[in-house]
Amino acid sequence: MSISYRAVQWNRQKRMYDLTLAVGCVLYLAVFLGASIALRPGTTAETALIRGFGTLSFLLLHVILSIGPLCRLDHRFLPLLYNRRHLGVTMFLAALAHGLLSLIQFHALGVLDPLASVLVSNGSYGVAESGLAQFPFQPLGFVALLVLFVMAATSHDFWLANLTAPTWKRLHMGVYFAYALLIAHVALGALQQERATAYSALLGLGLVWVAGLHLAAGWKESAGDAGSETKGEDGWVEVGHVDDIAEDRAVTVCLAGERVAIFRYDGKISALSNVCQHQNGPLGEGKIVDGCIVCPWHGYQYRPEDGSSPPPFTEKVPTFRVAVREGEILVDPTPLPPGTRTEPARIPAEQETPS
Ligand code: HEM
Ligand code: FES
Repeated sequence: MSISYRAVQWNRQKRMYDLTLAVGCVLYLAVFLGASIALRPGTTAETALIRGFGTLSFLLLHVILSIGPLCRLDHRFLPLLYNRRHLGVTMFLAALAHGLLSLIQFHALGVLDPLASVLVSNGSYGVAESGLAQFPFQPLGFVALLVLFVMAATSHDFWLANLTAPTWKRLHMGVYFAYALLIAHVALGALQQERATAYSALLGLGLVWVAGLHLAAGWKESAGDAGSETKGEDGWVEVGHVDDIAEDRAVTVCLAGERVAIFRYDGKISALSNVCQHQNGPLGEGKIVDGCIVCPWHGYQYRPEDGSSPPPFTEKVPTFRVAVREGEILVDPTPLPPGTRTEPARIPAEQETPS
C-alpha cells in the first residue's frame, strides 16, 4: 500500500521464510548431486548441476502454483503466501542457473552464437514431418525463462504501484503460460533422452496436483457463491443474520457476480468489495484491527465505512449500502464508487452479543 515507492520492510517472519527457503534449496541440491553421482557413476558434475537446478526450479514452481489454491482451501497455509514473491525470485534464479549451465554445456563450443544454437540446433519444428516427440524442447525452456525473468524483474512492490494492481496481476498470470511451456520442455526433453518413465510419472503427478488444487479451490469458491444471494424487498439482497458474523470479522457473499465482504464491528455492519487493491486478496477473510480491515494476505488496511486506506495511503475499494432489519442484513447490490463513504447499519441493542 503506497502513494510512493517505499523500501520493503524486513521482519522476523520474512527472515525465517527466506532462511528456510535457502536451507531447503541448498539441501535439495546437495542431496540431488550426491544421489546422481552415487546412483549413476557416469554422470558428470556439470550434468548433475544442470539437472539439479532444473528440477529445483520446477519443484519450486509447483510449490508457488499450489500456495494460492491451498490458502483458499485452508487458512492455515496463509503464512506461505506472505512472502511468495521471494519464492518466485528464487525459482527464477535456479532456472537461470540451469539455463546458463545448459548453454555452456551444450551450446558454447560450436560455431554458432549459443543463444542462436539453442533455437536452431534441433530444427525439427515441423510437427507434421518429424512428429511431436521430436519437437525442439530447449527453445520452450528458453521462452519460459524469458517469461519468468519478466515476472521476477517486476516482482517488487515498486512495479506493482507503477503498473497498477490489475495490470501487474495480468502480467503475473504469465506464470501459467510458463508452466505450460515447462511441462512440454521437461516431457519432450525426457522423451528425447529416453528417460521417459520416471519423469513422465512425476510430471503427470505434478500436473494433476496443480490442476486438482485449482479445481478444488474454484469449486469451493463457487459453492460458497451459490445460494448466498436471497432477493429481498426493493432489489436489496438479504445476505444473512447479524449473529452469523463474529465481532471484527466478515462473511463473504456473491452479489450480481461480485464478491462482497460484510463486516461486523462496534455494533455496526458495513459492506465493501472483497477484492484487495494490492493483489486481489480476500478482504472478507481479514479482520478489523484498530478500526481498519486488515487484508489477510499482506496487511493492506481499509476503513470499513468508506473502503479507503487510512492516510497517507490512497487505495480504495467499492462500498455497498447496507441495512439491518430484525437482525437480518440487507445489502444494495449496486456498488458505490471506490472510497464512497456510506453509513454503517446499526445493530439493534438486543442483537449486539457476538456469536
Ligand atoms: C535457456 C533456457 C533453458 C535451456 C537451454 C534448458 C536446457 C535443458 C536441457 C539441455 C535439459 C536436459 C538436461 C539433461 O537431462 O541432461 C533440460 C532439462 C530440464 N529443464 Fe531445462 N532448459 C532451460 C530452461 C528451463 C527452465 C526455465 C526450467 C524450469 C523452471 C527448466 C527445467 C528443466 C527440468 C525440470 C529438466 C529435467 C531435468 C532432467 O533432465 O533431469 N528448464 N533443460
Ligand atoms: S492482497 Fe496483498 S495486502 Fe491484500
